[in-house]
Amino acid sequence: MSKFYLTTPIYYANDVPHVGHAYTTVAADTLTRYYRLRGRDSFLLTGTDEHSANVAAAAAAQGKPPQEFTDEINAGFQEAWRRLNIHYDEMVRTTSPRHKSGVQSFVQRLFDKGEVYKGRYEGMYCVGCEKFMTEDELVEGLCPNHRREPVWYAEENYFFRLSNYTDILTRAIDNPEDQHHFEIDPPARKNEVLGKLRVGLTDISISRATQPWGIPVPFDPTQTIYVWVDALLSYITGVGYGDDQELFRRYWPADLHLMAKDILWFHTIIWPAMLIAAEVPVAKRVFAHGYFTIDGQKMSKTLGNVIRPAQLVERFGVDASRYLVLTAFPFGTDGDISLESFAEAYNASLANDLGNLLNRTVSMINRYFQGRVPAPQADPTALDDDLYVVARNTFPAMERAFAALAFSDALGAAWHLVGRANKYVEENAPWALAKTDRDRLASVMYNLAEALRLIAYAIYPAMPDTASAIAAQLGLEFRAPGSEAMDWEQAIAWGGYPAGNSVVEKPQPLFPRLQ
Ligand code: MSP
Repeated sequence: MSKFYLTTPIYYANDVPHVGHAYTTVAADTLTRYYRLRGRDSFLLTGTDEHSANVAAAAAAQGKPPQEFTDEINAGFQEAWRRLNIHYDEMVRTTSPRHKSGVQSFVQRLFDKGEVYKGRYEGMYCVGCEKFMTEDELVEGLCPNHRREPVWYAEENYFFRLSNYTDILTRAIDNPEDQHHFEIDPPARKNEVLGKLRVGLTDISISRATQPWGIPVPFDPTQTIYVWVDALLSYITGVGYGDDQELFRRYWPADLHLMAKDILWFHTIIWPAMLIAAEVPVAKRVFAHGYFTIDGQKMSKTLGNVIRPAQLVERFGVDASRYLVLTAFPFGTDGDISLESFAEAYNASLANDLGNLLNRTVSMINRYFQGRVPAPQADPTALDDDLYVVARNTFPAMERAFAALAFSDALGAAWHLVGRANKYVEENAPWALAKTDRDRLASVMYNLAEALRLIAYAIYPAMPDTASAIAAQLGLEFRAPGSEAMDWEQAIAWGGYPAGNSVVEKPQPLFPRLQ
């Protein structure tokens, strides 16, 4: 099976992580876990972007040297990802020696190839975006993202010949047969990028003369490398560019760069142009998801509505937090979240739908069969057939949803089975069968245990601990992917639950109801 290399953005180390960072990271972890489960050699990279004026200013505001400050911020990101059960393979810190030397050798390579020249930059720059701004990008003279006035920069800088890449990139994006082809998703974003390309590209400054907190330009140490060039290169330094050829060859080019729409430009224009210029293959796909607001407002410290990952985990638990952010709204669009709507969704989908299904199944197996799941005794009925069909369709639907990065649909496929199984309980009324038809009762209880075994597989990528907890209550060991070769088709085929297995004596509520 092919490898799968996925990246999250390298988050700015100017503040502790918030739920926006968690959104991308949970999605990335879920997707990587899915492909790992399917047997692909998967690698998830994340990191912290520790240089830049932003970070230096945040450190200064706390009276700390920048390195000490970013050490703390990075520790905060590690802690947040640990609490959210993010299984990443590499956390790049852009201040690490390995990253720095990779960046320097890449920039040197661009210089040696004649892709970089010295010139004079004069223009506007948004420190919030760390981006050069053109007049028509501004709204009433302000950066539309940060609502602040850009600063005027005039200095001698090194420039990258981005203007040479307008046609090359247009072809690369447009034509699937092009040697540098890459996908941009969702399609509306692709059109946006193509539209901007039609205007034509201008060369960009890739160094700073007045920004000491950065990586020195190898051929002119009086300047530092522009923070975006530094950060983008973490996608290759994190898999061995410049120091581990074997690792680099195994994973590069990335299969997917995941991020929100705010930084699409850098990933679809500057980044591929840099790679093409250096004769390094471009990443295969860039997906930009939407932005979320909180209670209808932009998340901001001034408004005091910032949600931290730790708050979510304390209130809802790890897996519920993961579920709630992934299902709040469709992945490619903008949407709103709130702690209240999370609490409602928690009670409805987790405490009621999934929690009750497990709870009553385990309780009834205890009550009617002394905790031992019987083998099915009666011939399947039309109700059983319908349950099998829904079960069988769950995994192909999930596969399609993950391929499209439709996380809410992937979980929706699992919840469709949860819903069908709950309905199956009502339709068959085991409490009545207990008095009239023990054979049929055996089949019904077996089918419910089996449906739950499959549900554990279906939710595993998003909710790994819950998958294990369900399996444990059914007396199964959830086979952790990667620990042994697993035949996926066999694992998800109906009938894999070993009859005669014992469930736990007392079901443990997976998701205690919130008041
Ligand atoms: N350091 C750069 C990225 C360099 S990548 C080579 C940066 N960092 S950031 O900390 O500002 O992170 C931006 C990313 O955080 C977004 O692209 C998105 O993944 C995530 N999000 C931050 N706020 C968000 C929302 N309100 N909603 C959704 N995602 C959000 O840009």
